[in-house]
Amino acid sequence: MKIVSIFSGAGGLDLGLIQANHQIIWANDIDSDSCETYKLNIGNHIICKDISKVELAEIPDCDVVIGGFPCQGFSMANMLRVVDDERNTLYKQFYRIIKGKKPSYFIRVVVPL
Ligand SMILES: C[S@@+](CC[C@H](N)C(=O)[O-])C[C@H]1O[C@@H](n2cnc3c(N)ncnc32)[C@H](O)[C@@H]1O
Repeated sequence: MKIVSIFSGAGGLDLGLIQANHQIIWANDIDSDSCETYKLNIGNHIICKDISKVELAEIPDCDVVIGGFPCQGFSMANMLRVVDDERNTLYKQFYRIIKGKKPSYFIRVVVPL
């Protein structure tokens, strides 16, 4: 299946899906080091940009949207977490893209802590 990957990081989730014979057609992360690592690990198709600034028209149609948004602001493992951490609203970007692109499936990574 054709997959759009957001919050792609170093590409760990993407790698598993590639190994399962799926194709990552577009990826995104805001962090330049993560994007450079992704390029080495996975490929040059990653767009390094704040996902909230990405228009739906920039994202290709796909069968699956995948992503694991940042959890530092609400993870029990972070003793310094604060409710108004601006990353805590990024799940809305995941929803915006699913609602807009209407993939057949989505995979949202959940951290148990
Ligand atoms: C939990 S990590 C994802 C790890 C990735 N799934 C993997 O397997 O390597 C969350 C990622 O979201 C990215 N991120 C945080 N804020 C972002 C934003 N506004 N736009 C795009 N990416 C963002 C971070 O740079 C980080 O790489």
